[in-house]
Amino acid sequence: MILVTGGAGYIGSHYVQYAREQGEALVVLDNLVYGHREAVPPDVPFYEGDMGDRALLDRIFSTHRIDAVVHFAAYAYVGESVQQPARYYQNNTVAALTVLEAMRAHHVPYFVFSSTCATYGNPQYVPIDERHPQDPINPYGESKLFVERILRAYDQAYGLRYVALRYFNAAGADPQGRIGESHDPETHLIPLVLQVAKGVRESVSIFGTDYDTPDGTCIRDYIHILDLAQAHAQALDRLRAGAPSDVYNLGTEQGYSVREVIAMCERVTGRPIRAVESPRRAGDPPRLVASASKARTQLDWKPRFQDLEEIVRTAWNWECNRRF
Ligand code: UFG
Repeated sequence: MILVTGGAGYIGSHYVQYAREQGEALVVLDNLVYGHREAVPPDVPFYEGDMGDRALLDRIFSTHRIDAVVHFAAYAYVGESVQQPARYYQNNTVAALTVLEAMRAHHVPYFVFSSTCATYGNPQYVPIDERHPQDPINPYGESKLFVERILRAYDQAYGLRYVALRYFNAAGADPQGRIGESHDPETHLIPLVLQVAKGVRESVSIFGTDYDTPDGTCIRDYIHILDLAQAHAQALDRLRAGAPSDVYNLGTEQGYSVREVIAMCERVTGRPIRAVESPRRAGDPPRLVASASKARTQLDWKPRFQDLEEIVRTAWNWECNRRF
C-alpha cells in the first residue's frame, strides 16, 4: 500500500487517480490548505492532517501496511517563498523530514519525491540534464533541494530507497475532466490564459517581452500531469524491483514561449485572449527546457502528451466544466 502525501493537490490527485486505476492500494494524507477533498476518489482512505504531525503519521503507518510514500505535499508559490521563507522551510523541508523519520521508525523502504527544476536555479546550459549544477535562486527551490540532500544521506546511512523527480512545468488535466488544476490564488500561465478565454478574467499579463529569446518572452517545457503521474508509478515499480535510488528530470524536451502558449490557447478555445505586455517577474529564468533522456531510457518513460495542443485541450476541458 502507498501513502500519498498531498494527494488532494493538483499533481498528487492525478497520481492518486492514475495509480488507483493501475490497481494500487492507496491512502491519502492532505491538510487541505491548498488541496481539494473532492479531488480524491471517495473509496480511497483519506486523512485530513499535517504531514508534520508525527502522531498522525504513526497512526497511519500502524493502521495500514504501507511499503512506499509518494510525497507531493509542499507549498509551491515561488514569490511567497521569498516573502515567507520560514513557512517554506518548515513545511517543505522540516515536515518532510518528519515523514522520513516516521518511515524509518516503521521500516517503510521506498520514497518517491516530487522535486522541481527550480532546484537548478538559473540555467548554465539548456536543455538541462540531471548533472546540471543545483543552485536554487529562491527558498522554494532550496526547500526542495534540501530534501534531495536529506534523501541522499538517508539512503547511505539507513538504506532508504528513493527516486526524486524534477518536474518542469506541470500542466493540463485529467482527459476525462474529473479533476484538474485549481489553485487559489492561481499564478500559473495556462489556467490564467484559459480563464481569460472563458471570460472570468479580463486579461493576462505577459511578464517580460525583452528576454533573449526568439519572441522576447520566456520559454518553458510544459509536461502533462498524467505523464508525471505515470513517471511516479514507474519510478516506484523500479524501486520495488530492487533498483537503486536515483533522480530524473521530467519534461517533454520542447520549449514554448509565453506568446506561443497564448496563441495555442486562442487556437484551442477559438476565442481571442487579451494579453497585456508587462514588466518581467523577478526570478524568472528566460529558458527552462528539460533533457529527459535519462527518464526515457532508464524508467522507460515516454510522455504521451507530446505537444502543447493536447495539453491545452485537457486544461480547457477542465476549465469549462470544473467542479472545484
Ligand atoms: N507568466 C506570464 N504571466 C502570468 C503568469 C506567468 O507571463 O500571468 C509567465 C512566467 O513569467 C513564466 C511562464 O509564464 O515565464 C510560466 O510561468 P508559471 O508561473 O506558470 O510557471 P513557472 O515557470 O514560474 O514555474 C516555476 C518552476 C516550477 C515550479 C513552479 C512553482 O518552473 O518548477 O514555478 O509553482 F514548480
